[in-house]
Amino acid sequence: MKPIVIAIDGHSSTGKSTVAKRLAKQLEYKYVDTGAMYRAVTLFAMRNNWIQEGSVDEAKLIENLSAVEINFEYNPESGTNDVILNDENVEKQIRAMEVSGNVSSVAKIDEVREKLVQIQKQLGEEKGIVMDGRDIGSVVFPEAELKIFMTASADIRAQRRYNELKEKGENINFEEVLKNVQHRDDIDSNRKNSPLIQSEDAIKIDNSNLSQEEQFEKILNLAKERI
Ligand code: C5P
Repeated sequence: MKPIVIAIDGHSSTGKSTVAKRLAKQLEYKYVDTGAMYRAVTLFAMRNNWIQEGSVDEAKLIENLSAVEINFEYNPESGTNDVILNDENVEKQIRAMEVSGNVSSVAKIDEVREKLVQIQKQLGEEKGIVMDGRDIGSVVFPEAELKIFMTASADIRAQRRYNELKEKGENINFEEVLKNVQHRDDIDSNRKNSPLIQSEDAIKIDNSNLSQEEQFEKILNLAKERI
């Protein structure tokens, strides 16, 4: 068996990380959530007050990017990796709605992408990895052996995300979540640098009407064919 690279890209809240984590566990591969890395940089900028009402002070963030260190640490309770920002576990904070509202504006900054893509490439050097994001199959690992592009209708994605946030005790309404999903789709798909696109050799999975189990089996089989 040869280790491969599995790239899972797609729209916001399509369940990419859920399926990617499960796949990594099953194959005994490394799992990297690249969205968490963009979220950590966003949190860093918010804490420094470089984001005001959705507007990012790009110059300040770029000037201080070298002070951002991102690592992952295994969490035995959740069975997956938590994000560490400058020695602090920020896994919970980066999932807040406020971070979701700002992250796409930070993710379109060239210097931010350059820094994170470099780390992502290093993490996948030895293969045996499942990485999820927006540009993994198109930019980070264009030579990935398996590329999946996940999508679903915006309403269904927002409903899933809303349920998830409610369960965590966040005080939000559905409209707010739907707007955030659409807003992120729009910025992610239309930015100049590494927009969210389906690579020609990616396999598209619309999971609007698929159960998690069906989707997982489908992707696992595609992976097994390539290992
Ligand atoms: O995957 P998640 O929804 O946590 O990603 C948060 C945001 O980070 C996305 O909406 C996108 O703006 C950005 N992102 C990106 N490239 C990636 C992963 C995430 O631009 N590879």
